Amino acid sequence: MDALEFNKIAAGLLVGLLLAFGIGKLVNTLYGPAVEHAAPEHAEDMMADAEAVDETPTVEVPAVLVPIATLLASADLANGEKQFRKCKSCHSVEAGGRDGQGPNLYGVVGAPQGHRDTFNYSDVIAGLGGTWTFEELSLYITDPKGYAPGNKMVFKGISDDEDRADLIAWLNTQSDAPLALPDDAADDTSLDDTSMLEPSDAEDRPIEDPVLALITGASAEEGGRVARACRACHTFTPGGANRVGPNLWNMVDRNIASVKGYTYSDALDAESGTWTWRRLWTYLENPRMDVPGGKMGFRGIADEEDRAAVIAWMGTLSNDPSPFARIE
Ligand code: HEC
Ligand code: HEC
Repeated sequence: MDALEFNKIAAGLLVGLLLAFGIGKLVNTLYGPAVEHAAPEHAEDMMADAEAVDETPTVEVPAVLVPIATLLASADLANGEKQFRKCKSCHSVEAGGRDGQGPNLYGVVGAPQGHRDTFNYSDVIAGLGGTWTFEELSLYITDPKGYAPGNKMVFKGISDDEDRADLIAWLNTQSDAPLALPDDAADDTSLDDTSMLEPSDAEDRPIEDPVLALITGASAEEGGRVARACRACHTFTPGGANRVGPNLWNMVDRNIASVKGYTYSDALDAESGTWTWRRLWTYLENPRMDVPGGKMGFRGIADEEDRAAVIAWMGTLSNDPSPFARIE
């Protein structure tokens, strides 16, 4: 079988495992090794010498994340409608339909989370505060309980990537204003096109620190794509929920371990200071080495360009973006 097929199957197995055992419990222990097994051809990159920035960068997308954009582009709407039978006992979907045990889902794709004024949502869903983008829906429908622990949707989830993508593509048609399907090419995580990673005009000005130079030269937009790897555990929107990890809106230059309502490890709690770009740089390279005893079950971003891009992007996630984020 080819590598892609192997990956799909391995990802499916992993999602199954996660559903069976609960994301929270599993990620800390199995996350690293599981990803290594699921994506053997990435393993080298993940361990790659951080110096090796010349290599074609590989984005490390955890196997729990589904390339929803790719699947949506070739979605089978008839199968999507069929998949909706799994939801029908609780949800109507026609325009003006009544709320049942769950809210009516007409127009839910692209709508605010908790989109029906008429429905009495749990505090968990009401408090999410984000948008049902294709990706958020995919994460929720993969594992409703893991996505929003304590929410009222008693449904085990749809672990088959294609079935889920088909369903979401069909749901998108049940709307006054269906969203454009994501541009497959723009979401291509293999990053064959390295042009985005070429240093920008930041090279023209003298910046002493090579790390800062990398960050200011990075594309924030590219960083947003690399950060797909973080979304299994973090939200990035204002007021977004704490998941496995804390909400990361406005994280740059914020006090370490200061997000309200999130229970940090003692190790991270004990760190003092703020998340300057320099501290993010070392933490994101290898969280477990940087903060021994910390509980971020993520191996880090070995590739320097990718890491710089994520930090550049995180700098933009604020009402008052960081100075380095303003450097074009
Ligand atoms: C057993 C009943 C049940 C089934 C089956 C079910 N849901 Fe739900 N769903 C709910 C409930 C209840 C909520 C509200 C959750 C809350 O407020 O915590 C909900 C909420 C949602 C939401 C959030 C809506 C919003 O306005 O924010 C979406 C999206 C959703 N369900 C999609 C689906 C899809 C797609 C399926 C089928 C694959 C499905 N559900 C199957 C009961 C169900
Ligand atoms: C497998 C889940 C997981 C993934 C994937 C993950 N994180 Fe985390 N992250 C956590 C957990 C859990 C914590 C809390 C750590 C602690 O308390 O020790 C955390 C903490 C953090 C913090 C510190 C927040 C604070 O309030 O001090 C930052 C910054 C961060 N993560 C960034 C990222 C970025 C950027 C990515 C993607 C490149 C990422 N994380 C991927 C689980 C994850």
